[in-house]
Parts: sequence; C-alpha cells; structure tokens
Amino acid sequence: MLERTVVIVKPDGVRRRLIGEVIRRIENKDLKITRLRMIYPSVECIERLYDVHKGKPFYEDLVRFMASGPIVAMVVEGDEAVKVVRNLIGSTDGREASPGTIRGDYALSVRENIVHAADSVERAEYEIKIVFSDTCGTY
Ligand code: RTP
Ligand code: MG
Repeated sequence: MLERTVVIVKPDGVRRRLIGEVIRRIENKDLKITRLRMIYPSVECIERLYDVHKGKPFYEDLVRFMASGPIVAMVVEGDEAVKVVRNLIGSTDGREASPGTIRGDYALSVRENIVHAADSVERAEYEIKIVFSDTCGTY
C-alpha cells in the first residue's frame, strides 16, 4: 500500500553532518523524497509535534533538544513507507538499536538519536501539517 510519512533529521544529526547520510539511506531503499525543508523550529512547533509526550519525564529535555538548532524535515513516499522507515531508523535508544539502522550506526543516546519518523499514517499527516507550516520556524 502506497503511504507517505515524515522524517526529520534532528539537531544532533544536522550538527554531526548526517543530513546526506540520512537522505542516502532513504533513497537507497528506493523510497521517494517528495518534500524537503530546513528550519530552525520554535519551541511551540516542537510542542505540537511531540504533543503525545507532554507530561512524560523526558518531555522538557526533548523539547529543549529539538529546538536547539536547525532540523531537516522531509516527506517520504513508498510502499508501506511508515513501517519501512521505522525499520530503517531503528529503536529509540541508540545503545539498543540494531547495527545497520541509522540509530544503531550513529547514536549512543536515547534522546539524541539523529532522526524522527512518524509512527502511523494518521500521525504522518498531522506532523506534515505542523513542520511544513509557515509558523513552525525560521529560514
Ligand atoms: P521519534 O518520535 O523521535 O521518532 O522517536 P521514537 O518514536 O522512536 O520514540 P518516542 O517514544 O516517540 O520518543 C520521542 C523522542 O523523545 C526522546 N526520548 N528521550 N528516556 C528519555 O530520555 C527519552 N525517551 C525518548 C528521543 O529523542 C525520542 O526519539
Ligand atoms: Mg515517536
């Protein structure tokens, strides 16, 4: 089933010069990038993006981290794109993520884990509206 999802290179991924590596892995998988945008997101934008985590112990640190520098957001299309991309990025905790996944190969942290990807088709549509809106940030 053709789906679209959203992938975000987080501020640590941008700082570590991994934008190209993330894009390369997505394209190598034969997924198609249909939109791409670099922004310095506002705290408000990140709060909307991660609304499901409000109140959790890691929420404040997550918001501060995600608003700490520029991010690269992209829309990714392909057969079962939501699940396929989640498999490409690996488990949340970089220490546990399997080698061969983006987090498994580049992250050693549970918070600073290089990439975000939507976890359902519904969330993808919600998140695309947020990160591609004019009010999400500057640049
Ligand atoms: P994401 O939403 O960023 O794609 O990551 P995910 O689905 O794999 O993980 P999720 O549970 O949605 O968590 C969102 C992000 O919050 C940070 N986090 N920190 N214990 C902690 O300190 C902790 N747990 C999660 C990570 O940046 C995680 O990706
Ligand atoms: Mg998540």
